[in-house]
Amino acid sequence: MSQEKHFETLAVRTQSETTQFSEHSVPLYLTSGFVFDDAEEMRASFAEEKQRDLYSRYSNPNVNEFVEKVCLMEGAESGYAFASGMAAVFSTFATLLDAGDHVVSCSSVFGATHGLFTKYFPKWNIECSYFNINETETIESLIKPNTKFLYAETPTNPGVDVIDLDFLSTICKKHNILLVIDNCFATPYLQNPIKHGADIVIHSATKLMDGQGRVLGGVAVGKKELIREIYLFSRLTGPAMSPFNAWVLSKSLETLAVRTEKHCENALKIAEFLESHPKVKWVKYPFLKSHPQYEIAKKQMRLGGSIVAFEVEGGVEGGRSFFDNIKMCSLSANLGDTRTIVTHPASTTHAKVEPEVKAAVGITDGSVRISAGLEHIDDIIADLKQALG
Ligand SMILES: Cc1ncc(COP(=O)(O)O)c(C=O)c1O
Repeated sequence: MSQEKHFETLAVRTQSETTQFSEHSVPLYLTSGFVFDDAEEMRASFAEEKQRDLYSRYSNPNVNEFVEKVCLMEGAESGYAFASGMAAVFSTFATLLDAGDHVVSCSSVFGATHGLFTKYFPKWNIECSYFNINETETIESLIKPNTKFLYAETPTNPGVDVIDLDFLSTICKKHNILLVIDNCFATPYLQNPIKHGADIVIHSATKLMDGQGRVLGGVAVGKKELIREIYLFSRLTGPAMSPFNAWVLSKSLETLAVRTEKHCENALKIAEFLESHPKVKWVKYPFLKSHPQYEIAKKQMRLGGSIVAFEVEGGVEGGRSFFDNIKMCSLSANLGDTRTIVTHPASTTHAKVEPEVKAAVGITDGSVRISAGLEHIDDIIADLKQALG
């Protein structure tokens, strides 16, 4: 399908080849392996003289379709799909980094990614330096001769801070290092980091790409030669996405644009409601004028995303009473679901992050993260209102 087609059309019309049954909807290729006509075809296929599926740890028609869609949505040359977002993050890191390398990362990253930096990087002699998202002028001074890449999430999890992608890519180009962006909170519908100069873009497909809280998945897309290395690492180590999950996720991508529009509309209304509530200490949402990086968000994002961060007055007790009084919304650690989810990052997704790091990135004991769902906005707000008392 040509590149000129619109996002929604690519999402719906990018499909695996039709089989002899002329099916309209893509079938599920639940097969671990593929067969060859003869010894020569088998040899040529494994020697990569022939492009075809060999074994589902390497590739599979459902996975290929999902990856192709994400590449078209992100404007990427190539991609590889993983069993989870963390498999995508880890496999990208493990491929790009050698012992003795250094990484510069935004300090506010997903808790498990932070855990990789602090718990496992040191044992492989890989060093990481962090920059505060509100002090981007410090980034350049952190770069060393052995820095391999700069890593950031935007918007960040859970604080929904935003960082200027053009600014990051200018720094990376100047110092000849790679730019790796976790684009999970934005989705490819709202933001395309590659168009701003990123080399690799990672997603947890578990979130809005699935959108219905059913399957885990991850994907890394970007420059062909880099993805080739990630593919070679992954076909040896086995973090591949299952064909079933790829089939579910590819179907979900067909509705990503319409779903995301509605999630963002509800999230903005929730943010506006919270901003006017006397029991709310602060609210952050990229498309609220009060967001510190509002102008940057407007420049690089189509809409503000589905996540709202805020703090209830009254510290730990205030937060606890809010969560205990929630009636309809779900208390869960996931996000990007049809159901509105309220999360307490300090005790769940970021529980293992050191207290001083949590404080530095604004995760207080009373911080709440809301993933706006697709219920009627009046019902969501009614629940939040009664929970706030
Ligand atoms: C920004 C971000 N990156 C990566 C991940 C990891 O994704 P997964 O749970 O699919 O492994 C998450 C999960 O919440 C996330 O929010």
